Amino acid sequence: MKKISIVGAGRVGETTAQILAEEEFCREIALFDVREDVPEGIALDILQTAPFFEFDCVIQGSNDPRILKDSELVIVTAGIPRKPGMSRADVLETNTRIIDEVTDHVMAHAPNAMMLLVSNPVDALTYRVAQRTGWDRSRVFGQAGVLDASRMASFIAQETGFSALDITTMVLGGHGDTMVPVSRFCTINGIPISYFLSDERIEAINERTRKGGAEILALRKSSSAYDAPGAAVAAMVDAIVNNRRRVLPCVALLEGEYGEADIAMGVPCILGEKGVESVVELNLNDRERADFDKSASAVRAEIERVRDIH
Ligand code: 2OP
Repeated sequence: MKKISIVGAGRVGETTAQILAEEEFCREIALFDVREDVPEGIALDILQTAPFFEFDCVIQGSNDPRILKDSELVIVTAGIPRKPGMSRADVLETNTRIIDEVTDHVMAHAPNAMMLLVSNPVDALTYRVAQRTGWDRSRVFGQAGVLDASRMASFIAQETGFSALDITTMVLGGHGDTMVPVSRFCTINGIPISYFLSDERIEAINERTRKGGAEILALRKSSSAYDAPGAAVAAMVDAIVNNRRRVLPCVALLEGEYGEADIAMGVPCILGEKGVESVVELNLNDRERADFDKSASAVRAEIERVRDIH
């Protein structure tokens, strides 16, 4: 890929930019942020790591949205973050207005781009961008499940003492307290986690996963998580730029899958060079289905709130 832009040079945007540069996922990285001088400063700082990490892609920052010109992928991390005690939905109104403006910039300067949403509440904002652009769902999607699944995998690794490399996890639903860790599809090198962990321990891991973002926010106090979120975005970018066709949970527009339509939420997708190629529809059991439906209702309520913002 030639050019990837990141909108929002906060901690998640900065961490993502650093990883994209180190991995040389593209030749040019643009950082756009409304704060004066900040994106330029961050771009320069990252550029100066080039000799250590041995990359030579160009990285630039600006307050001018024209920096987005001709991006093939735009990663949107802009918005106000949560403060301790706030839910992701609490930042909905402000972030919707910010994301509307960002979307208009992208449509003006990078009309052929894909948009990867990271800002919260990510499900409702992905839906908003899809509505505003009218673009095919393959080009408008969000990051949530890759992060939630990595959190779950790290908790399983801590609990069992086994290598995180062997652990595969799947988390569906909205990126909120109703998210659905699906332990039936979680394995340690192909062996279901129920072989190693009791139902009680699995339920505790599920609950910790649902609250994974809040746990870090409460500990860090002045910041939400950004190391793992940046890495999660980079994993999705890797799947796209290298056309890996990975099966990853993405926030995707549903068009009848899982019995849902006119909604964006976390489901496993095939992610490759064209973005979301398709949605993988799992055969959920009754309990998983009920949890998924509950999560869809929560996301729908956020989408209704977003609809009222003009
Ligand atoms: C997280 O889960 C803030 O949504 C972000 O850490």
